[in-house]
Amino acid sequence: MIHTDFPTGNLRGEVVRTSRTVGDLQNYWASYDESLKDSVVYETQSWFPFPDGTEGVVCWASTKLYPGKVGDEHFMTRGHFHLKETHGELIIVVSGIGQLLLATRESERQVVDLTPGLTFYIEGKFFHRVINTGDKPLVFWCSWPADCGHDYSPFRI
Ligand SMILES: [Fe+2]
Repeated sequence: MIHTDFPTGNLRGEVVRTSRTVGDLQNYWASYDESLKDSVVYETQSWFPFPDGTEGVVCWASTKLYPGKVGDEHFMTRGHFHLKETHGELIIVVSGIGQLLLATRESERQVVDLTPGLTFYIEGKFFHRVINTGDKPLVFWCSWPADCGHDYSPFRI
């Protein structure tokens, strides 16, 4: 059991915290800017009730995506495909504005505008990335199956 503070995106308890800087995403930007390498792009807090990868388990996490740009690109999550295309993900926005970019390896593309309260089911076949188009942090929650598998290879939409 943990404690969720919805508005702030904070979890309290045995959770995993990560932070990604512009430099961590060096291979993801269209035009990487070394001078921004230490800028924090986003932070996540994740709860894995059972070890990651366990079949039938559901995970829970927040992301706080900061406003900013690298060249012409808004700050973004690196994004990923699920290895199991049958395994989707729920996203719930609590504050800020942005866009959810969806793409298949073929040519299918979708853009979903993110505003507080938006609750969306991401089908498992879609690469998914979130961008912050506003001037405040974009805070959202996600829930996904622990055994979906992740492919974080750089992917340009
Ligand atoms: Fe995902």
